[in-house]
Amino acid sequence: MGIERTFSIIKPDGVEKGVIGTVISRFEAAGLKPIAIKLKRLSQAEAEGFYAVHKERPFFADLVKFMTSGPVVLMVLEGEGAIAKNREVMGATDPKKAAPGTIRADFATDIEKNTVHGSDAPETAKVEIAYFFPEVEILPYEWRKKR
Ligand code: RTP
Ligand code: MG
Repeated sequence: MGIERTFSIIKPDGVEKGVIGTVISRFEAAGLKPIAIKLKRLSQAEAEGFYAVHKERPFFADLVKFMTSGPVVLMVLEGEGAIAKNREVMGATDPKKAAPGTIRADFATDIEKNTVHGSDAPETAKVEIAYFFPEVEILPYEWRKKR
């Protein structure tokens, strides 16, 4: 599989619950290294654009409202098989179905307020990273290789 990059968000409920550090620790423990991080509140347009694939879904308006309700942490994670590894550490979308010990099982409120987002495939990872991080904001290779 090799070294991959994936895109991660700690959603407004995760920031509000005070688990930014805990969530990042879990990623690091799983071999997912943050190589870019920022904290910001998303605008309506940013959230709508980011979740454009879901615009026909019944939950779209609620999802955008939730994602703009408070600050989020945006991250690029790098590691061996990072896309699947991140999904594994996050757990299923619905916390009631998430495996014990996953981030969503431990911290999510419900199927919407589920603490984290993670890219689901190489193509979406690429698009999502570029949506929030110009390449110059990602840690250069000579610094990444030291960790
Ligand atoms: P994400 O994209 O955030 O990593 O989550 P996911 O792949 O596990 O789930 P996805 O199907 O892509 O849904 C995106 C986000 O929309 C909210 N959602 N609400 N009310 C509902 O039935 C419902 N279903 C999904 C969640 O916040 C979900 O993570
Ligand atoms: Mg998704």
